[in-house]
Amino acid sequence: MRVVILEDAAAVAQRAAEIICRQVQDNPQSVLGLATGGTPLATYRCLVQRYEADEVDFSQVTSFNLDEYVGLPKDHEQSYSTFMHQNLFGKAGFDLNKCFLPDGTAENFEAACDDYERRIDDSGGIDLQLLGIGTDGHIAFNEPGSSLASRTRIKTLTERTRSDNARFFDSVDQVPKLSITVGIGTILDSDRILLLATGKSKASAVRSFIEGPVSANVPASALQMHPKVTVLLDEDSAGWLVRADYYREVEQVQRELETSPKS
Ligand code: PGA
Repeated sequence: MRVVILEDAAAVAQRAAEIICRQVQDNPQSVLGLATGGTPLATYRCLVQRYEADEVDFSQVTSFNLDEYVGLPKDHEQSYSTFMHQNLFGKAGFDLNKCFLPDGTAENFEAACDDYERRIDDSGGIDLQLLGIGTDGHIAFNEPGSSLASRTRIKTLTERTRSDNARFFDSVDQVPKLSITVGIGTILDSDRILLLATGKSKASAVRSFIEGPVSANVPASALQMHPKVTVLLDEDSAGWLVRADYYREVEQVQRELETSPKS
């Protein structure tokens, strides 16, 4: 796991956008796994700026979002579909026919979940998966206790997640109780994973998933089993890491290796 500690949330967004753009520049037909929430917003702003500056072309990209609330129509102002259209797809030249989100209003959820997994497989699999992390250690909406081998399914949100997300709604009572989310197994199938965390509220979850044991109790800890994970942290979210100095040292060496001219 490559743990990169950056100065602040703006630096995290810049670096994340740089990594995503490089992926798409190297392979314009990349399959991206995308996330919603407060954390990736600044990254999406950077992507929009780079698109407007003609630095990157997303028109051939296929994307799969991690999750969606059950019961919210696609055009609901708090649906993740609306979030993606408002903050990224509609502003950065994505082909909407290639942008997929789980269907929170499906008539048959089991079939919709199987179909979502099949679509990801049919696309050739996810090249780069973007993730945030919940204060309870969740990735996507895989709450503590989720099977580390789970696939796309319905998941009940914890009270903590619902209260964390209440800031986007008028009250916590309006936050849906269920979500449709890709599984941890689905996420682990991605070629590369990029997890972002910013702010003091994430410090405990960040320490647990990087330095604690692999456990269903901290779903993000499953990423320890994946060979290509980059974690971008600001100083606040990295504040509880015991080995922070070591990660900084490793990163310095890594950057030197990447920038030194090859003989
Ligand atoms: P946040 O959510 O970015 O809004 O903090 C992260 C998550 O729940 O994965």
